[in-house]
Amino acid sequence: MKIAKSVNKLGTEAVYNIFAKTKKLKKEGKSIIDLSLGQSDFKSPKHVVDATIKALKDGHHGYTLPNGIIECREAVSRKIKILYNAKINPERIVIMPGGKPTMYYAISFFGEVGAEIIYPDPGFPIYESMINFTGAKAIPYNMTENKDFSINPDKILSLINEKTRLLILNNPHNPTGSFTKKNIIDELVHGLKKFPNLVILSDEVYDRLIFEKEEIPSLLNYPDLYERLIVLNGWSKTYAMTGWRLGWGVWPEKLIENVFKFCVNTHSCVNTPAQYGAIAALDGPEEHLNDMMEKFDKRRKLIVEGLRSLKGIECSLPGGSFFAFPNVKNTGMNGEEFTNICLEKAGVAVIPGTAFGKFATDNVRFNFATSTENISKAIQKIDNIL
Ligand SMILES: Cc1ncc(COP(=O)(O)O)c(C=O)c1O
Repeated sequence: MKIAKSVNKLGTEAVYNIFAKTKKLKKEGKSIIDLSLGQSDFKSPKHVVDATIKALKDGHHGYTLPNGIIECREAVSRKIKILYNAKINPERIVIMPGGKPTMYYAISFFGEVGAEIIYPDPGFPIYESMINFTGAKAIPYNMTENKDFSINPDKILSLINEKTRLLILNNPHNPTGSFTKKNIIDELVHGLKKFPNLVILSDEVYDRLIFEKEEIPSLLNYPDLYERLIVLNGWSKTYAMTGWRLGWGVWPEKLIENVFKFCVNTHSCVNTPAQYGAIAALDGPEEHLNDMMEKFDKRRKLIVEGLRSLKGIECSLPGGSFFAFPNVKNTGMNGEEFTNICLEKAGVAVIPGTAFGKFATDNVRFNFATSTENISKAIQKIDNIL
């Protein structure tokens, strides 16, 4: 069997290895507090589940158009108007099986040998994996330079040259939990005017998980960029729907035909009943989200306070998402060593910063979308082994 060389260039998400290890330890009877996965402990909202079941019972289970049912695309357009006061034609919106495929398509459209793609490091591992898969050169920007992990527009702009095809942004940011404020995004967007051929992929999957009532700095707030802007978003994080595999992309008009073709060639369409649930999520009440954010805020403060109380650990306060990304250097261990003893000795599953790139060698990602009891217990267990 001879596999195409490009397949060997694909990376993966180390979180799945830790997930498997954790499962094995649990099966052996060990008690593990799992702070590794990128999802919350909340259930999907009831009105979303009900709308999906109703759609199925009503017989909405056939193929849909590859870009999604128009009602769902209109609901996304309505929500974008409410959230960002931006007017987006539903024909530019594509419903996807999760947030990831928008990433896959965008990187495939612009990545090839000889091209360069700029992306955050540490960052969601699939950016680099997909860039390598296409044969393009992966150009990372270091997210660990600022203590609060906010981006540095000048540094990013300095990486752009005539080979650069795509710039990937992610705000709020996984794995650091950082939130880059609007004034910094303004600066970056201003600088991008000098590079009119550069396309931007803005991964905004955590856009509703922002603390302190900060303004959402969506790139959709900059209509001048629309001809070269792809926005990745979805239902996974905001509505606790990770396993539903539901996302949306906003694309430049010029690319829609190609996106349509990719959909036809890969998944045909997104699960039809789920698209009806997706409408209910967008148009329905937001108590679920408000309640989730209230709890996340308490958990965020608890975990940061706990981590800061541990000897040798520094931790900035996350501005968005549900991740804390402490630096463990002064414990005498690097992120990987720390992660290993956490799992094996303390029974706490976390992810080393190196699972997200090469720069965050001394950091570890903690998911705080779990109960306050779990967080307190985890901190206590780590304290014991330190
Ligand atoms: C930054 C970022 N982008 C995209 C995704 C993918 O989202 P989905 O599960 O909807 O495919 C994730 C998931 O963890 C993420 O953290």
